[in-house]
Amino acid sequence: MEQYIICGGNALVGEVEICGAKNAALGILAASLMTDETVVIENLPDVSDTNVLIQAMESIGTVVDRVDRHTVRIQAGAIHSCNVDSSYIKKIRASYYMLGALLGKYRSASVALPGGCNIGSRPIDQHMKGFKALGANVKISHGQIITEANRLVGSHIYLDVVTVGATINIMLAATLAEGKTTIENAAKEPHVVDVANFLNSMGANIKGAGTDIIRIKGVEKLHGTTYSIIPDQIEAGTFMFAAAITRGDIMIRNVIPKHLESISSKLLEMGCEIEEFDDQLRVVAAKKLQKTHVKTLPYPGFPTDLQPQIVTSLSIAEGTSVVTESIFENRFRYVDELTKMGAQIKVEGNSAIIEGVHRLTGAAIQAPDLRAGAALVLAALTAEGESTIDDIVYIERGYEDFHLKLKALGASIEKAGNEKDALRARFKVS
Ligand code: UD1
Repeated sequence: MEQYIICGGNALVGEVEICGAKNAALGILAASLMTDETVVIENLPDVSDTNVLIQAMESIGTVVDRVDRHTVRIQAGAIHSCNVDSSYIKKIRASYYMLGALLGKYRSASVALPGGCNIGSRPIDQHMKGFKALGANVKISHGQIITEANRLVGSHIYLDVVTVGATINIMLAATLAEGKTTIENAAKEPHVVDVANFLNSMGANIKGAGTDIIRIKGVEKLHGTTYSIIPDQIEAGTFMFAAAITRGDIMIRNVIPKHLESISSKLLEMGCEIEEFDDQLRVVAAKKLQKTHVKTLPYPGFPTDLQPQIVTSLSIAEGTSVVTESIFENRFRYVDELTKMGAQIKVEGNSAIIEGVHRLTGAAIQAPDLRAGAALVLAALTAEGESTIDDIVYIERGYEDFHLKLKALGASIEKAGNEKDALRARFKVS
């Protein structure tokens, strides 16, 4: 089992290049199944979630060529099955996007129920409601979600909760439905907009993505395209907090600063300096961090995927902060690990009350999920002494070369695959 061995205390200084957005990539990869023509996707992050989805796409006959590390050429003209039951697909959440894509194109899809991080119950009722409104039958049987339709007909769909997954999934199916679909109370996240832009570049007719109401005029078929994925808001935000927590100075390159406003504004309140440029952003943390309060909300609110990172940063801030999680009910599981490092955090309901401590101390900890895992790495980077972080497979689901990027910024971090590696890393034997 691989682990990170981190010796804390170094301020992170330098430049880091942000990858394409994982969550946009997952929607876009699935959407590429909807045309028989060739699709080229650029700026694709090389992380295990996207690679697992690509394997699942290949398992039903899609031909995927890796042009280079961040570019794939996809040919989905020879798909031979709409039944995706591969063992790996169960590991990721975004498997559900294959439902919307295959239902739209082939009027039939059967996909194993999605897995993903354990951050609370993750229902899919809104996805099912959307497909049903378009005229599909949807049922769950033997661990598969099965959906079929003779015809898909545009409809008016009001989402009961703001959900990224259901917004994208319904958009996928409705793109190839007959007539007009309106999705009300739609999610406005940058990756929803990116998937809509991608579909439009294939000939879809989608308007309003990025607002509460998305209007889709169904088209008969989609064509090939070449498309570059937007930068990853959450990876960028994680490095912003890495600068803050280590009292560093990081230029974060290949970002869209507008997507980072909720994060920048919190970091300003915490005493950091932020400089914005066209496609880069610099975070300087010259002073001790200060307390702040924040509640996670759908975009443009503060993202739930950066909640563990801000809590971790606030654990060494001056004063008492309150962070409220309003999207997922079980997203504070990592707090016990932070406590082992000396943090003083009490979770009450869906809020964490964080009493800033002077410093954290290194400990042996485990990554409970993707984003919390990254947050614990940040904790270890500031902690006094050595930490080991197990279960880093979670972190690698969504961060490309995380330890290498941190190392290039001056972190003392090694990845060890077994006990021998761990000893070597510790004693720097090459
Ligand atoms: C996506 C992201 C995840 C991020 C989350 C919120 C991917 C692969 N994952 O997850 O990283 O944390 O958005 O920004 O893109 N809900 C329902 N019924 C549904 C669907 C969702 O009640 O049918 C609820 C969820 O329980 C949650 C909220 O809606 O409370 C938001 O979920 P959603 O935006 O759908 O999250 P995911 O798409 O699973």
